[in-house]
Amino acid sequence: MIIIGKYPKLRMRRSRKEDWSRRLIRENTLSGSDFVLPIFLTDGKNKKIGIKSMNGVYRYSIDNISKIIDKALKNKVPMIALFPHTNTKLKNVNGSEALNENNLVSKAIVAIKNKYKNNIGIMCDVALDPYTSHGHDGLIKKKEILNDETIKILIKQSLMQAQMGCDVIAPSDMMDGRVGEIRNELDKNGFEKIQILSYAVKYSSSFYGPFRNAVGSNSSLKGDKKTYQMDYSNFDEAIREVALDVKEGTDMVMVKPGMPYLDIIRSIKENFKIPVLAYQVSGEYSMLHNAVNKKIINNDSIYEVFMSFKRAGANAIISYYADRLDKILK
Ligand code: PBG
Repeated sequence: MIIIGKYPKLRMRRSRKEDWSRRLIRENTLSGSDFVLPIFLTDGKNKKIGIKSMNGVYRYSIDNISKIIDKALKNKVPMIALFPHTNTKLKNVNGSEALNENNLVSKAIVAIKNKYKNNIGIMCDVALDPYTSHGHDGLIKKKEILNDETIKILIKQSLMQAQMGCDVIAPSDMMDGRVGEIRNELDKNGFEKIQILSYAVKYSSSFYGPFRNAVGSNSSLKGDKKTYQMDYSNFDEAIREVALDVKEGTDMVMVKPGMPYLDIIRSIKENFKIPVLAYQVSGEYSMLHNAVNKKIINNDSIYEVFMSFKRAGANAIISYYADRLDKILK
């Protein structure tokens, strides 16, 4: 490291003295374009249902969805991510609702593309957990989550989402080899321009709890996801996961959760020079939101957290706050 000068000639506080000077040397900035807004979908008409585990976040019926999309657009948020709350009656062991051309996600993609054209990107999760009665991301046989058999379904789910008009396919299932198989399937069917954002680094985390309540997969989840999601004690393994997904043809990678894993974001950025998205997951959101609501910490702490993602090297942040950025970015 180069150290130029020393005290008393060198005074680091000199450049911090005035606001203009702090702005002048600022290394990172935040704008609406740095965010992705997740949206929870529910069936029915004219619905906006509060989610108990996530204060300030709602499930929207498709006819109501423009209420929240318009808020994101006002702040130039470039992309939304769709997550369905599936009626329990439609869930089964194989998660077959995932391949229903008339499922909630399909209908939402069509409606949103119809209204907003390409003014906002749509990203969809590829995984079976919103649709399986056991709450796991893949097929299950004698308590084992099957890898290759699950991929056969995931490629169909991806293709269907692309056919509906989804722009970014985001496999969040953590099966081995799925990125390459999805890329092949998309290309074979003329969707070579559809992007893949792999949840390359997805840890088996306690911070997903409120999300599972939001999509209704918590009550049904049997066991944990440790045989496919990563062990959070590991760093090198994250780098290997990214290397594999890059080789298989992913366009962007996700690190999830966000704030406890800034070391991973920084390292991916340095090693791969690929767009990295950080997911500020439901547990992180709820923790922060509750503390701010109770005035334990002030509103600026939200901005500070977002800046930590940018400073670590994230190109964008997936956040449940992305419909309320005018109050945060100021
Ligand atoms: C589904 C999925 C999960 C999240 C995003 N996609 C939950 C899980 O893997 O159990 C979590 C998002 C959040 O907590 O905000 N595979």
